Amino acid sequence: MYFGVDYYPEHWDIDLIESDLKRMKEMGVNIVRIGEFAWHLMEKEEGKYDFSFFDMVIEKLNKNELKVMFGTPTATFPAWLAKKYPSILSKDEKLMVRSFGGRRQYCYNSDIYWEYSEKIVRKLVSHYKNEKSIISWQVDNEFGHEGSDMCFCEQCQEKFRSFLKEKYETIEKLNETYGTIFWGQTYNSFDEIPVPLKTITTHNPTLQLDWARFRSYSLNNYANSQIRLVRELKGEHQTVTTNLSGGFFKKFYDHEENTKELDFVSYDNYPVWGGLKEPVSPAEIAMTLDFIRGLQDKNFWIVEQLMGAQGHNVIGYLPRPDQAKMWAYQAFAHGCENMLWFRWRGMTKGAEQFCFGIIDHDNKDGRKYNEVKSFIEDMSKYENVVISPIHSEVAVVYDFDNVWSWNYQQQSQKFNFTDELVRLYSPFYEQNINIDVISVKKDFSKYKVLVLPVMQIIDKDLQEKLESFTEAGGTIVFSYRAGIKDKDNNIHFGKTAPCLVKEMTGIEVVEIESLQEGQDVKIESVVETSSDSGKCGVWRDIIKTVTATPLYRYKDKFYDEYACVTVNKYKSGEVYYIGGGVNQEILENIASEILVKNGIKGVKSSKDLEVYPRNIDGEKYLFITNHSSEEKEFENIKLNSYESTVVKL
Ligand code: GLA
Ligand code: ZN
Repeated sequence: MYFGVDYYPEHWDIDLIESDLKRMKEMGVNIVRIGEFAWHLMEKEEGKYDFSFFDMVIEKLNKNELKVMFGTPTATFPAWLAKKYPSILSKDEKLMVRSFGGRRQYCYNSDIYWEYSEKIVRKLVSHYKNEKSIISWQVDNEFGHEGSDMCFCEQCQEKFRSFLKEKYETIEKLNETYGTIFWGQTYNSFDEIPVPLKTITTHNPTLQLDWARFRSYSLNNYANSQIRLVRELKGEHQTVTTNLSGGFFKKFYDHEENTKELDFVSYDNYPVWGGLKEPVSPAEIAMTLDFIRGLQDKNFWIVEQLMGAQGHNVIGYLPRPDQAKMWAYQAFAHGCENMLWFRWRGMTKGAEQFCFGIIDHDNKDGRKYNEVKSFIEDMSKYENVVISPIHSEVAVVYDFDNVWSWNYQQQSQKFNFTDELVRLYSPFYEQNINIDVISVKKDFSKYKVLVLPVMQIIDKDLQEKLESFTEAGGTIVFSYRAGIKDKDNNIHFGKTAPCLVKEMTGIEVVEIESLQEGQDVKIESVVETSSDSGKCGVWRDIIKTVTATPLYRYKDKFYDEYACVTVNKYKSGEVYYIGGGVNQEILENIASEILVKNGIKGVKSSKDLEVYPRNIDGEKYLFITNHSSEEKEFENIKLNSYESTVVKL
């Protein structure tokens, strides 16, 4: 197992390095990550490559028997490159050039940037390919983060048109697919097609989805080109990875495409960042970890684990004592195998003065240092457990085409894709079971239950996979707007929703309503003996049951004979339909019913106490993390606020 820190010796008086490395080792560190922003230090002037600083650093790391993950520095190019070739700078949707001075401002479609990136990467990796202590290469840093997935420059416009020409071949085909007859937008040629810059009202939905697909293609084309180059040049003993930031569903690139050629996926785990007044929910943190594991269906690294409050110009919530340690426990529970913390010491200069690390600006070993030290001592005992694979019987399914369609057209003021995915992830998470979060491209056959949150785009392929899944006895849970659109982001004509899955859901959506703030609709159980009731917000599908059984109906003078939640026996399986933003209590009842029917054993625990099961060679372990500031108890085990533990059953 590797435990380490993100270390920037170039930020400090080099006389500090000896004491830094000594203190790192005393904390339990055996690896450091370096280099990912140091392009200028390696090429101060064009073509004058100089690795002497890092040669010296690596020599000292070797003396301290510390391993190295080395980052290729293409996330931050030198000023001399931007000055010589301003065309490498990306442009926002107002065609404003992104100024040098931040990071990630390069355009993925700049041929010049590809050329200079290749040169520095080729020199760097060739220089260190035989360095035994460098065990892994991190390619770039957080592709697509901080708005860098988008660029509207002339290079992108030209390549977008070629991308469309290759996809549609004729302009007639494009016009027909887009419906450009609407608002007289018919194109006579591909070179009339705009990138979706700011316009009055909104762009064509198919153009928007194709633009999202082009952004994903551009980013992943650049990323995979560098990943292949590093793989071609590196030493046999070295692996290749890249570090994904969070906020996956707000980004315009397919993360599965981005990571498919890596030796392992790395993740930057920040449960709280910037001005947030509190961390995201335990369920949402868990979902992100399961998403990362789901990319390659295998365990992963965390190369930036939060320890101190973080933010650029605004910081927010201070992780309480043991809370960041608890998040590290949770990460290992969900499939992290090796962890580095961001970062060794908070920097006094530059844009991240307020991104606090383990050591603060006073340079003293404090609470955070001791927390990391104790965590490393704790977790080192469970190496055999954390390297074991996680086998889930429940999977939450996403499709980036569907995500991007929602990101452009939310349909409800209150709609947020991540919230709606977590709405359906949480009820199963609360049962303390293993859950995979996977793309529609994955094989579904190993699961018993599939959950498809707001899957409005359903094509023939997905329909057929779902049909086979129910033939094999699987249970499916849809939520609202299922199947209304095709892969061109167009609404089906002449079909009743939920299109393509109407038969398996056993329902018809007869009316729809976007629900705004304060418009939550009451719903009630249709079971006579049940007084169960709840509410539905954000959206509602008003449902007529055909073969399905209603479970909850709307309490509404106009629609009280219509259903909100239904279940349908279909082939050898069952298909649930959650017709709106239904509250958690009701969804938890449904989730526990589904688990019982499918023989999936959950573990009951109090709110904010996660009890995550790991099974290895017939032995069962529980990773118990208290996400609350209150003392909690689980089966006679008392956990103080934010305390964590591993129990072998
Ligand atoms: C991201 C980046 C790091 C740093 C941290 C600050 O994860 O990868 O370089 O900016 O955020 O929290
Ligand atoms: Zn561009």
